[in-house]
Amino acid sequence: MYETKIVKLEQNFNEIAEAMKEAPVAFPTETVYGLGAIAWREDLVRKVFEVKNRPGDNPLIVHVSSLKMLKTCIDGEIPEIYAPLIEAFWPGPLTLLFRKHEKIPHAVTGGGKYVAVRIPNHKTTLRLIEELNAPVVGPSANRSGRPSPTSAEHVFTDLNGKIPYIIDGGVCAEGIESTVVNGLLSPPLLLRPGVITFEELQTHLPNIAFPEHGSAHTLASPGTRYKHYAPEVEVVMFTGTEEEKIEKIKAEIRKSSYRAVGILAPEKVLRRLGSEVAGTKLVHFSLGGTLREIAHNLFDGLRYLDREAEVIYTVEVEDMKEGRAVMDRLNRASSRRK
Ligand code: TXA
Ligand code: MG
Repeated sequence: MYETKIVKLEQNFNEIAEAMKEAPVAFPTETVYGLGAIAWREDLVRKVFEVKNRPGDNPLIVHVSSLKMLKTCIDGEIPEIYAPLIEAFWPGPLTLLFRKHEKIPHAVTGGGKYVAVRIPNHKTTLRLIEELNAPVVGPSANRSGRPSPTSAEHVFTDLNGKIPYIIDGGVCAEGIESTVVNGLLSPPLLLRPGVITFEELQTHLPNIAFPEHGSAHTLASPGTRYKHYAPEVEVVMFTGTEEEKIEKIKAEIRKSSYRAVGILAPEKVLRRLGSEVAGTKLVHFSLGGTLREIAHNLFDGLRYLDREAEVIYTVEVEDMKEGRAVMDRLNRASSRRK
């Protein structure tokens, strides 16, 4: 057990570096907070799995600060197919698969021969990696199965007592995870939709494929097999036209006996629903308007309504651009579609 402290990297670097010799430490990135350990330390990588309660066959992303450091993690040269992606999106929220260097512990890759790597676009993360002078593994810093953390407070809620430090970087600029791509297959495969959209990837890799749910890619990206992003309370997703979603939500509330129903939806849906239906209080969380805003606010909203309501009703969004990452997370978080 630790007395978990939220600290600033600049003021506490020595203590943090010292603590990272024996325990994982949470760090901010532009996407979500990560749970960090030096990638070379297999003993600490195992602790990352333990702290998160993560299945051992779900591999971790390795964060590096330069192409030079990337080369210490991979076997052979950087594959040519990645050149335009690295040029366009690094540092940034795109994770690429490489053949792993033999020095990368098997615990990092879940026993597999590929290692997933990205250069994050966040000055605190880059500074941490540079000061440690080592690649840092970083799965999202949530308890396994919970919504990913987009602030130091979210990490504290999930991991208080389990790690010595949470490095504070404020609220994450993106709020949803990186896109994961395996370009070593033919055609290249998008393994996890994320901040960088499929449409953006297509402009650089015209033949990239986006496999359907439940197909071979569930083997290629082990993380997609598990239940994910789910709050404690039930999440129900409503579908159809805006009119239909609103009517279905109202009908569901009339049938139910909840006192407080959480509504996680774009602003205009909230406005049409109002603050009460048939005597039941509606607790609003606005996802905003654009797909990008919705992606940014999603995890914060799931966590907020998990505390404030007895059930969460949410709505499907357009399955395109940033909406693909949103729908991927909502499909996993919700137990029913209506
Ligand atoms: O934005 C992000 O990617 C954040 C921040 C902290 O960088 N990290 C993150 O890590 O989301 P995590 O562990 O929550 O998700 C990693 C995803 C999982 O779906 C995992 O299965 C996949 O990447 N992955 C990692 N290594 C892989 C590998 N070698 N082969 C296939 N999939 C891999
Ligand atoms: Mg995660």
